[in-house]
Amino acid sequence: MPAGLENIDRNAKRVAVDDKAMINSRSDVNQLLPMKYHWAWEKYLAGCNNHWMPTEISMQADIALWKSADGLTEQERRMVKRNLGFFATAESLVANNIVLAVYRHITNPECRQYLLRQAFEEAVHTHTFQYICESLVLDEGELFNMYRELPSITDKDAWALQYTKNLENPDFTTGTPEKDQAFLRDLVAFYVVFEGMWFYTGFAQVLALGRQHKMTGIAELYQYILRDESIHLNFGIDCINQIKQENPHLWTPEFQQEIRRMLTEACELEVAYGHDTMPQGMLGINAELCEQYLQFITNRRCTQLGLEPVFSPTENPFPWMSEAIDLHKEKNFFETRVIEYQSGAALEWD
Ligand SMILES: [Fe+2]
Ligand SMILES: [Fe+2]
Repeated sequence: MPAGLENIDRNAKRVAVDDKAMINSRSDVNQLLPMKYHWAWEKYLAGCNNHWMPTEISMQADIALWKSADGLTEQERRMVKRNLGFFATAESLVANNIVLAVYRHITNPECRQYLLRQAFEEAVHTHTFQYICESLVLDEGELFNMYRELPSITDKDAWALQYTKNLENPDFTTGTPEKDQAFLRDLVAFYVVFEGMWFYTGFAQVLALGRQHKMTGIAELYQYILRDESIHLNFGIDCINQIKQENPHLWTPEFQQEIRRMLTEACELEVAYGHDTMPQGMLGINAELCEQYLQFITNRRCTQLGLEPVFSPTENPFPWMSEAIDLHKEKNFFETRVIEYQSGAALEWD
């Protein structure tokens, strides 16, 4: 039974910090305090401070450019469509994994609090693609079926889905080394690969367009998503490292090799997608540079997980991406508008 659905134990003792654990904890998941994992709570607060909605961003310039006959080249249009086609359904695949798999097996309330926030952010991201589709009057059937109809997207989604499937089985519970490793594989597939590797080619492509002052509305929306995703990724890395620390027997040399193989496969799938989205170079980027960028990112993810890198050391070919990622709230990347604002709850009413 997933933690949280047991009968209320009237005689149980109060939860102490040391009773809490990431997985397989028998402590009450309804007792947020006393708090153990402050890193999870900090990310929950950061997510709330970054609240945004897609409808706050004007799409007028994008609509005009998209409609004009010579606004974008055919290659740029193809890249935009295939890029949107990946993200349009990727966000709900990630959301499904949170709600149907990860949440059930994480036995800690502060991490669950973050997962609830993240699940909402994924809904905002899916809303973003609905908003873009409606604004540009795109073919909605084409956009939302691309994950089934464009093989390089299907291959990526099918690869990740295999890791969720195990966990969605109602009979699946963690608690043996094999099953705990299956849970770790799922965290790697979604947080490290999906959100931490595959989203980055897409971000680079659209931000490269934005740097040429093309589709700046979409580029700005992607910046907000990127800001959210970098917190999602870091939450996932912290979860995996915390589970490792609490369960060192799971992190065997064989398992480490398996995770490195997963990251290598994921990189190959992304390279194929890069060729599909832009067979020829444009905007100062091309499929080869995207491959180099992804190898750079993959090595970085290995380091974050405490693994040996899988590729020989390589330079970041898109240093401007770091600038976009490190961006805080003061100003956005393209300086189209000041994005420092307070959410309703933080406003003063007097
Ligand atoms: Fe997302
Ligand atoms: Fe995400």
